[in-house]
Amino acid sequence: MKPVEIRPNVFWVGVNDRVTELFEGLWPISREGISYNSYLIKDEKSALIDLSKEMLSEDYLAQLAEIFDIASLDYIVINHMEPDHSGALVWLRQLAPDAVILGMPKTVGMLDDFYGLTENIESLSNGQELSLGANTLRFVYTPFVHWPETMMTYMVEQKVLFPCDGFGGYGTLDGAIFDDTCADLAYYEAESLRYFTNIVAPFSKSVLSAISKFEGMPIEVVAPSHGLIWRENPGRILELYQTWSGYYHEPAQPGITALLGTMYRNTERALSAALDGIASEGVPVKVHDVRKTHVSYILPDLWTQRGVLVAAPTYERGLFPPMLDVLRMADVKRVSHKASAYLGSYAWSGGGQGAFEEIAEKMGWEVLNAVGFIGGPKAFDLDRARELGVQLAKAVKG
Ligand code: FEO
Repeated sequence: MKPVEIRPNVFWVGVNDRVTELFEGLWPISREGISYNSYLIKDEKSALIDLSKEMLSEDYLAQLAEIFDIASLDYIVINHMEPDHSGALVWLRQLAPDAVILGMPKTVGMLDDFYGLTENIESLSNGQELSLGANTLRFVYTPFVHWPETMMTYMVEQKVLFPCDGFGGYGTLDGAIFDDTCADLAYYEAESLRYFTNIVAPFSKSVLSAISKFEGMPIEVVAPSHGLIWRENPGRILELYQTWSGYYHEPAQPGITALLGTMYRNTERALSAALDGIASEGVPVKVHDVRKTHVSYILPDLWTQRGVLVAAPTYERGLFPPMLDVLRMADVKRVSHKASAYLGSYAWSGGGQGAFEEIAEKMGWEVLNAVGFIGGPKAFDLDRARELGVQLAKAVKG
């Protein structure tokens, strides 16, 4: 794509990644892709804010060279050291050896750790400002959105926030890069939620803290380093992130995520009865089959819905492994404050229920009820499963 001027003398110079299958080696993006947004400010002094992943350096630097003499660059602002934003640094340093790299104190050590860079680096303090001429950059320390060195850069006169990972999302920018020009805003919002739950959610407290640091600083454009630039309604993405982050310490929306794992459909039959019970209470439910769905796509519902119904059989005296994998990742991502229930079949000894209760306790989930049954569900078991659904639905409504 061509560079795009997003404000006077402020240019988006990002690149799309349509090659990577798993972001961070974990999260599927083969269908959606992702953008690495970088921003060039041309003023009496020039500054480049965040870069790109190393494998896209050639495209990135060629695009930058279309509008700028790279050798004349004055500053490289590193909001965040993760290599999806800093990977192009080694190449850029060769093309612009006099450019000063700016970052928080922890960034200085990481520049050496990751790239062996120790020269021409300036350590910043929280709130420090840098005049480029007509524009001033203010650097705000926002640790753990997403790493400990992370900061956000605020452009004072033009009221632009460059928050790097914060307020970002999956999805390539397909020509249109703004919230008011993209073809499907709902798609980008959904991919922002998936990105949030996959990457940022464990740092929700830090997100809320970061948002509070910008009170009193008017924001007219939110220009993250992944996904859309929000200029028509910058408050929208800030509010979404604030709402999602709030779920780390308070109950989420009154709906249920039902997770299904089944070998011979016995547990599935019991789940169907429980879903009848949930429906009778008018509570929304979303079913995810853990055998077929990557946890990346399950986490958004787990994070945003108050109730969780785990339906999975016993396997080798424990819980059906694909279900255990999903719950372990939920634990890693600190999915908490849930009302939950368990359903599952076993063949001779139980074990699935106990394994679920163990991990639920670790995550701080309340377990309202559990229905285990041997072999196929009998009429009595189906009645109990239906009642379990009613009980869980009433709890999330309350
Ligand atoms: Fe987009 Fe934490 O890097």
